[in-house]
Amino acid sequence: MRGLAILGSTGSVGVQTLSVVREFHDRLKVVGLAAKRSVGLLKEQIIEFRPKIFHCESLPNYDGSKLSSSSIPCSMDEMVSHPDVDMVVSAVVGDVGLRSTILAIQSGKNVALANKESIVIGGQLVSELLKTSDGEILPVDSEPNAIWQCMRGEDKKVSKLIITASGGAFRNYKKSDLSDVTPEEALKHPTWNMGPKITIDSATLMNKAFEVIEAHWLFGVPWENIEVVIHPQSMIHSMVEFVDGSVKAQIGPPDMRAPIQYSLLYPDRIANNSLDRFDPVGTGCLSFEELNQDLYPCFDLALKIAKLGGTWPAALSGADEMAVELFLSRRIRFDEIYSIIDEALKSHDPVLDPDIEDILSASNWAKNQVKSLAEV
Ligand SMILES: NC(=O)c1ccc[n+]([C@@H]2O[C@H](COP(=O)([O-])OP(=O)(O)OC[C@H]3O[C@@H](n4cnc5c(N)ncnc54)[C@H](OP(=O)(O)O)[C@@H]3O)[C@@H](O)[C@H]2O)c1
Repeated sequence: MRGLAILGSTGSVGVQTLSVVREFHDRLKVVGLAAKRSVGLLKEQIIEFRPKIFHCESLPNYDGSKLSSSSIPCSMDEMVSHPDVDMVVSAVVGDVGLRSTILAIQSGKNVALANKESIVIGGQLVSELLKTSDGEILPVDSEPNAIWQCMRGEDKKVSKLIITASGGAFRNYKKSDLSDVTPEEALKHPTWNMGPKITIDSATLMNKAFEVIEAHWLFGVPWENIEVVIHPQSMIHSMVEFVDGSVKAQIGPPDMRAPIQYSLLYPDRIANNSLDRFDPVGTGCLSFEELNQDLYPCFDLALKIAKLGGTWPAALSGADEMAVELFLSRRIRFDEIYSIIDEALKSHDPVLDPDIEDILSASNWAKNQVKSLAEV
């Protein structure tokens, strides 16, 4: 029986993780659940899954204890290092995930990682820790999960990673149309149903730049050997080219429960009849297009910044988190997401060999910087 701590259990990935747990209750047990504001849903989950411990960020412990009489409130730090937890599922959104990812690895736990921001901002730090820990990172995000599946058994014979991107809500728009788009339009992802931040990051393609950064750190592949192609059908989740020119692709309907299941049950593959199967004839055409840099300026900016290292990626991620929040609350336009991040980063004073506190403070600095630029 594998004991799970699910951080972000009330979000899109968290809820889908619990639906996988329901299918495999003979192998997976929920030890801990953590969320922030969705108190009602967290309470329902506690009643159904009866975790030993829980954490509710928006309720202090004395209030949190009213959520359940059988489960014990605790901090996220206590949860990820709890002796009954074998695997931490990190499905929180944003830079807040880094501390738990690091603590889980230091405690020798495996981390089923959806929270890509942890690796974007702390890739170097996390890679160093993994060298001396018993814990591993099992990528849940569909693209790195696909790369991981393609690389299994291949022993470092990789020549190139090809990461696919749907192109998000505005793939067929002209750049000049992007100043008028609304949050509602940006939240209509053509192929995936996800939380708000990643859906906006998909429309700007910031999300794809984050996946390139994630793949660079998780698989140790040089930046220049990672390519991104637009693949509107989202059936091929990514590809790996090997030194002999052969290419492996991981294919399946766009459903996060599939990569979540792969990570939770790794190394086993077990049938799950609630998941749709890939139907080649029904799917018809699988197409690929070059990425239109003009339509997605965030993509280039993000990679240019990430390659600088130090606290630059943390500042990038923090700036993006705040810019997305401001767009969703209608305080900036969609096309200002790029310009405000670019402007904010111009005054970043980086730390070149940062520890976790330097990283989180760079992210917070960038959030405040973007906020004050929006108020001018
Ligand atoms: N959604 C997808 O299909 C998908 C696919 C690949 C990767 N990802 C990645 O997975 C992560 C989660 O995405 P999502 O779409 O599931 O986001 P989401 O729907 O917005 O859910 C975020 C979750 O994190 C919780 N949370 C936020 N801050 C917290 C804090 N300080 N302490 C405890 N819990 C906190 C939220 O709790 P409350 O709701 O209670 O406030 C919620 O449960 C992101 O990093 C995203 O990039 C998502």
